[in-house]
Amino acid sequence: MESSVPPRGAVIGLGMMGRHHARILQSNAAMRFAGAVDPGGDRFGAVADRARVFGTIEEMLAVERPEFAVVAVPTEEHLPAVRELTAAGVNVLVEKPVAATAAEAREIIGLVADAGLVGAVGHVERCNPALRELRRRLPDLGEVYSVATERVGPFPDRIRDVGVVKDLATHDLDLVRWLGGAPIARVAAQTSHRMGRDHEDLVLVTGRLANDRAFNCVVDWLTPRKIRETRVLGEGGMFVADTLNADLWFYANAHVSTGGWAADAARRGVAEGDVTKFALRREEPLAAELEAFCALVGGNDSAPVVTLAEGLETVVVAEAVLESAASGASVDLTGSAA
Ligand SMILES: NC(=O)c1ccc[n+]([C@@H]2O[C@H](COP(=O)([O-])OP(=O)(O)OC[C@H]3O[C@@H](n4cnc5c(N)ncnc54)[C@H](O)[C@@H]3O)[C@@H](O)[C@H]2O)c1
Repeated sequence: MESSVPPRGAVIGLGMMGRHHARILQSNAAMRFAGAVDPGGDRFGAVADRARVFGTIEEMLAVERPEFAVVAVPTEEHLPAVRELTAAGVNVLVEKPVAATAAEAREIIGLVADAGLVGAVGHVERCNPALRELRRRLPDLGEVYSVATERVGPFPDRIRDVGVVKDLATHDLDLVRWLGGAPIARVAAQTSHRMGRDHEDLVLVTGRLANDRAFNCVVDWLTPRKIRETRVLGEGGMFVADTLNADLWFYANAHVSTGGWAADAARRGVAEGDVTKFALRREEPLAAELEAFCALVGGNDSAPVVTLAEGLETVVVAEAVLESAASGASVDLTGSAA
């Protein structure tokens, strides 16, 4: 049965991501704020009541029993945090990627299931207004031919425990599958290390989905201009979503000859179609993500969350991308035990 009382949630890790979760938890009527945990304290001043900031999960649990927690600690710390929280009966919304390895992701799924709790992964791009609208309008496109994503920009100035494949490309690998309508069946990838760090800072992925649609992703921390674009090409034309600005366009197939002015036709192509920019209702993606998770905690089993199983699938594909880049061969994922 669904509960009408907003659930109480805690934030574990008050860093770049956790501070935003804390802001929303303290201000959104669909949820209540139980507290936050960070051994480094509240360095961004995200929590209004200082008494609600704890140094460890154990210290928080001695005082507060939240119904759920957002796990926003560095990716390699997700599993130990989930272990402690599920042992105390706390439902978990785990930041993406769900874990640093597929093995850890499977352990997280087991912990949540064995405790009879609910969990989800924070693949927040799925809540981007432009992508939500694109997906809603996909039937208008007819047959989908390919999905392409570009997620490039300068390196964010903070320490990272994983490379660009697991940190950033997991957004794209999740989107490709969500928009393309089938699991990823095959990947071929190239990576580069240009900044002298242990992990890769550029990845180019080409692949195919189980429904035979093609995709490619261009992702890096090297490009001086930040770009976040997703394109879906199909029978009727092409959707283009700019997820940085939450804008969506549709380019209809060319149907008007540009003829007459030869120099213009040479620049523009022999024909052009109409371009539509959609007016969108823009809600903050992170708030939409948290509201969906609160609905799940409140008993709505069809709340639009990204499941832990989907989060695992994405980590499995990310590992295949790294394997392909290391071996130089493409990797077949059909039958992979995600
Ligand atoms: N959804 C997105 O778009 C998005 C964007 C950025 C980061 N993330 C994810 O969010 C997570 C956190 O990333 P970030 O960029 O906020 O990192 P960050 O380094 O800015 O913040 C992590 C915080 O966790 C704290 N911490 C470390 N161990 C802890 C523990 N055991 N208990 C409590 N707090 C602990 C650190 O002190 C730090 O303040 C990562 O999994 C990352 O992949 C997601």
